[in-house]
Amino acid sequence: MWTYPYRIAAHRGGGTLAPENTIAGLRAGFERGFRAVEFDVMLSVDHVPVLMHDPAFGRTVPGSGNVAETSAKLLASMDAGSWFSPAFAGEPVPRFAEAIDFCFANRIWMNVEIKPAPGHAIETGRIATATLQRALAALGAQAAAGRDEPDALVPLISSFSHEALRAAHEVAPEIPRAHLFSAVPEDWRERMRAIDAVALHTSHAKLTPELAREIKDAGYALFCYTVNEPERARELFSWGVDALCTDRIDLIGPDFV
Ligand code: G3P
Ligand code: MG
Repeated sequence: MWTYPYRIAAHRGGGTLAPENTIAGLRAGFERGFRAVEFDVMLSVDHVPVLMHDPAFGRTVPGSGNVAETSAKLLASMDAGSWFSPAFAGEPVPRFAEAIDFCFANRIWMNVEIKPAPGHAIETGRIATATLQRALAALGAQAAAGRDEPDALVPLISSFSHEALRAAHEVAPEIPRAHLFSAVPEDWRERMRAIDAVALHTSHAKLTPELAREIKDAGYALFCYTVNEPERARELFSWGVDALCTDRIDLIGPDFV
């Protein structure tokens, strides 16, 4: 069975300690000792994958408009930090490739959540996966030259979008995939099989111990989002949940048991 290299991942980069989906966020998690991270990937209008959760501006970047209608160059000049704190003013929207570089350089395991803007599932799945595949190939070439050992760093792709996951599967069957569900549907086994998933990711809110057992008995790894209370994390682990992501990286640290 496929397994997670770490049990606790920092959600959206640095949880509540830094602006989400930024390099500053990744750095905040890293400085807290995290070596596992979850973040969201969306496409710009010119098909460059960037780190972003919301399809529309207004929450984490100022103004109005949509990520899917904006160029990567313009996105890189946008302030994705001030909404969080003036200390992060000017923190840009990073390209996915920059986040990959940061994580590889610091040996951070990635859960790459493909977060397509509405109507862009297939190209987002394809392009984000191809970007990751190229980066892994470059890392593999380094390893072959005796400079690194990439095995522990193979990331996990996840998505709520079945279409995006199908595209990811087509492009890079060798990169493991997880199906994300806000609530696990009746036909979860079929959906998992259709994309050859290794793991099921779900909100902890609607998970039951019985369902957790069924998923584990079916041979899948099981991950919950977004768990911010230590007691709840302990309970989920007691049900057989393998790993989780948290915003409270100050409360649920990388060595949490
Ligand atoms: O990947 C787990 C979690 O991040 C899914 O929810 O909305 O925070 O991307 P969201
Ligand atoms: Mg996410």
